[in-house]
Amino acid sequence: MGPIGVFDSGYGGLTILKDLRNRLPEYDFLYLGDNARTPYGTQSYDVVYEFTLQAVKELFNRGCELVIVACNTASAKALRTIQQKDLPNLAPNKRVLGVIRPSAEVVGSYSVSRNIGVLATQGTVQSESYVIEIANFSPDCTVFQQACPLWVPLIENNEYETDAGKQFIQRDVQKLLDKNDKIDTIILGCTHYPVLMDYIVSILPSSVKVIAQGEIVAESLVDYLERHPKIADRCSKKSELAFLTSEPTAEFDVNASKFMNLEVKSKHINFTIKH
Ligand code: DGL
Repeated sequence: MGPIGVFDSGYGGLTILKDLRNRLPEYDFLYLGDNARTPYGTQSYDVVYEFTLQAVKELFNRGCELVIVACNTASAKALRTIQQKDLPNLAPNKRVLGVIRPSAEVVGSYSVSRNIGVLATQGTVQSESYVIEIANFSPDCTVFQQACPLWVPLIENNEYETDAGKQFIQRDVQKLLDKNDKIDTIILGCTHYPVLMDYIVSILPSSVKVIAQGEIVAESLVDYLERHPKIADRCSKKSELAFLTSEPTAEFDVNASKFMNLEVKSKHINFTIKH
């Protein structure tokens, strides 16, 4: 028995963790933020794969039977290889799930015009994961993507509310809208971006819906655990919450407490591979 592991390159996965806890309050969660090596969005496939596998192994070693990769970039670039190549040797009874598929499954249901926008990191956009997955579930929808390479650094460095930060955000949102004026639904395809939700909504026409992934991923996990009772049985349920970070804990604790709206006391983990 162990907690459900939740992994992200930094603070972004906390936006998912919040909804997971709301929806599954009896479960234990262990969060791992690889803040020291963020952002992943501009890194190669090999690097994102190597970092993600290291994080998954760390969470497995700490008793997690189920790990949620709460990072779109890692879900896009590493998840499939880990599920298909590594898991059978590493831990055939453990499971690793991502965030793109559940989001792509439902986003079409929000769109009337059938034109969907995706805001995400460069890595997620380049992988075309959203285009491919949305085509599976909503083949009549057209997907327009915009990479926002500065957003994660702005959020990790707490600069997203500055005038300069807002200008970058506005510029990328406008670039997406310029691709097609019938976009009526935008999915925030990076778990960091819900932090910017209020600002993004304030600069968009009211006819455009902005979708964050937290509730969608939480709902999908509830469904998964119902369909996989043996895995649910192996997840501990004492409502405990713990945090690991690869950056100095003092900095993580201040920022994560703000994100989570509760007092966070993390433990440091040392990820030695650097790129
Ligand atoms: N939260 C990650 C995601 O969902 C950010 C990736 C990054 O570190 O650039 O894609």
